[in-house]
Amino acid sequence: MALLEVKKLGISFGGLRAVDEFSVKIEKGELYGLIGPNGAGKTTVFNLLTGVYKPTDGSIILDGVDITGKNTIQINHAGIARTFQNIRLFSNLSVIDNVKVGLHNHYKYSAATGVFRLPKYFRTEKEMDKKALELLKVFDLDKQAYLPASGLPYGKQRKLEIARALATEPKLLLLDEPAAGMNPNETAELMNTIKAVRDEFDMTVLLIEHDMSLVSGICEKLSVLNFGQLLCQGKTGEVLSNPEVITAYLGE
Ligand SMILES: Nc1ncnc2c1ncn2[C@@H]1O[C@H](COP(=O)(O)OP(=O)(O)O)[C@@H](O)[C@H]1O
Ligand SMILES: [Mg+2]
Repeated sequence: MALLEVKKLGISFGGLRAVDEFSVKIEKGELYGLIGPNGAGKTTVFNLLTGVYKPTDGSIILDGVDITGKNTIQINHAGIARTFQNIRLFSNLSVIDNVKVGLHNHYKYSAATGVFRLPKYFRTEKEMDKKALELLKVFDLDKQAYLPASGLPYGKQRKLEIARALATEPKLLLLDEPAAGMNPNETAELMNTIKAVRDEFDMTVLLIEHDMSLVSGICEKLSVLNFGQLLCQGKTGEVLSNPEVITAYLGE
C-alpha cells in the first residue's frame, strides 16, 4: 500500500480550474518531486493535501486513512507536515524554541504541571531540549540553538523550517520550493540535507520545485503540472526526457 494515495483531486477558484484531476501514489521512503512552471498549481496541491483548501473533487488517503476534507490540525496529527514557499518562522523565538514548538505535538503534560512547574515539567523540558538539539545537529544548526531565529542567515532559516516540520514526527514531509532565494552553494547543501533527512529518518518527502535541474539530482519520481493538469508522471529520467515536459518549460 502506498503511503500517500491521491485520486482525481480538484479545486476551482472562480472560473479558474487551479488543480484538475490530480492523482499520485507515493511509497514510503520515496523522495518525490512535484514540478511545473510558476502558476501551474503546485502550491495549491499542497494546500489541498494539508487542509488549507477543501477539494471539490477527489480523495486523499494517508497510510490507509481517508483524510479528505479534514482541517489543517487534523491533517497534521494524521502525519503530514509542511514548509511554506515563504519562510514562516517564529522569528522572535530562539532557534531551539522554534523546533520545540513542533515537539509539543508529542510531549504533553497537563496545564497544572506546566503552571506549577512540577517535576514532570522539568523532565519533559529536558527531554525536549535533547531531542531538539539532536534534530538541529542534523541541519548543522545546533551551535546557533540559542540565538533568535531571525538572526540566522537566510539559508539556515530555510533549514530551520524543515527541522521544525520534522519535529512533529510526520509520516510525510511536504517542502514547497525549499531552495527559493538561496544562492547556488546554499542550494547544493540543502539538497544534500534533504537527501540525508530521507536516509536518516526513512522519511517520505514530496518536494515542490520549479527548477527542473534541482529535482533531477535527488528525486526518484516526478509529477509535472501545467495549467493545473498533470502533464506526465513517473521515474525522473523518463519524465525529463518527455518532449511535452520540455516544451512546457521552454514556453515559460
Ligand atoms: N486562493 C486563491 N484564490 C484565487 N486564485 C488562486 C488562489 N490560490 C491559487 N490561485 C491561483 O491558482 C493558480 C495556481 O497557483 P499556485 O498553486 O500558487 O501555483 P504554483 O505554486 O505552481 O506556482 C494560479 O493561477 C493562482 O493565481
Ligand atoms: Mg507555489
